[in-house]
Amino acid sequence: MITRRSLFATSLATPFLAAAFRSDGASILSAAVRGAGNRPAEDLAMDEDFWLEAQNAFTVDRSYINLNNGGVSPSPRIVQESMKRALDYSNQAPVYHMWQILEPQIESVRTRLAATFGCDREEIAITRNASESLENVMLGMDLKPGDEVLTTLQDYPRMITTWKQRERRDKIVLKQFPIPTPPGDLSELTRLFEKNITPRTKVMLVSQITFSSGQIFPVRDICRLGRSRGIEVIVDGAHAFALYPFTRDDLDCDYYGTSLHKWLLAPHGTGMLYVRKNKIANIWPLMAAGEKQDNDIRKFEEIGTHPAANHNAIADALTFHDGIGAARKAARFRYLKLRWASRLKQLPGARMYTSLDPAQSVAIGVIGFEGVPPEKLVGHLFNKHRIIVTGINYDNVHGLRITPNVYTTLGEIDMFCDAMEKAIREGIPA
Ligand SMILES: Cc1ncc(COP(=O)(O)O)c(C=O)c1O
Repeated sequence: MITRRSLFATSLATPFLAAAFRSDGASILSAAVRGAGNRPAEDLAMDEDFWLEAQNAFTVDRSYINLNNGGVSPSPRIVQESMKRALDYSNQAPVYHMWQILEPQIESVRTRLAATFGCDREEIAITRNASESLENVMLGMDLKPGDEVLTTLQDYPRMITTWKQRERRDKIVLKQFPIPTPPGDLSELTRLFEKNITPRTKVMLVSQITFSSGQIFPVRDICRLGRSRGIEVIVDGAHAFALYPFTRDDLDCDYYGTSLHKWLLAPHGTGMLYVRKNKIANIWPLMAAGEKQDNDIRKFEEIGTHPAANHNAIADALTFHDGIGAARKAARFRYLKLRWASRLKQLPGARMYTSLDPAQSVAIGVIGFEGVPPEKLVGHLFNKHRIIVTGINYDNVHGLRITPNVYTTLGEIDMFCDAMEKAIREGIPA
């Protein structure tokens, strides 16, 4: 049995969890680097002793095998505990404890998110999810009737719904184009955006990683393309932030919205919005703010009374994330994806919708099987094996989306593969 004591005993070799029980990010980072030495992330990806620490940092129910972490992820214990502490404290005297003491601590969370994203803290708003972040920009931008918005057929349904509401309300025009799944290389995706630009294109929306097949987009090239044509580019980073290493400057973006309850493992109902400083005044917030706040990123946080517990515990999720390190997470995710994909793609009728080229995908992988409806497999895996995956039927993608997380074990991946091999080879019982 693994006790807290034995976890700490092994912590010299694999120290991030031990460090994660403390609350300052700096010591976590140095502890992790000390323990893992200079071992390349790709080596550590295969070191089960290292990942055991992460696996035991969660309170997940292991009688399920949860391979749908892309929807929303569980938070590690330290994040849950931080939230619970803050809720208990808030409820002692909310007007004082929540409003006066806990709420101002949002500022240190802002500073740490800005450091992770590589921008100024005055460019980060803390929201409740990617939808709120992105809709602030999408609905807050002045657009005239006939102005065109360009995006792909693989962008997230809620974002499409948002543009379609603007079509009805403001008479703008949404244009979507198909993308290959997967493309031959990333430059194909930039060329497709370029080909579909018209003189009326005013905005482009690009997913950094698509929800439907886990495709990475060349965001920097698309942002620069937009800038060179006077087109605003909004980046949907819901599936990218804290998944792999990158900064604002790598993307060169002006607007970026993400959830924090996916790959950062922050409390459910947390998100982040980045707006470049000189663009803040141009965007109307979703919920009204005073004129004095026109240039203040906090105008996007004017949402009325809300718990401070959620946004403050983002700090604990950042500490946990820093303890592992983005490069190590990405290497582990690619290793897990390769483990199931290299087995399942051999099965009859298999089609991978996700490229296994590391430049094109990280954690998400989507696989379909000719003649087998994804929903039938999803039901079978859950009913017979208590394995949770999600089915995708979206434009030209028809398959199972598999998203493990840092707590996923190799045994779980292998049990999923065994169940799939049996189902595809022997058929799904009626
Ligand atoms: C690409 C993409 N954008 C936006 C969202 C919306 O995220 P949330 O539900 O956290 O607002 C999601 C959710 O899965 C997504 O995958």
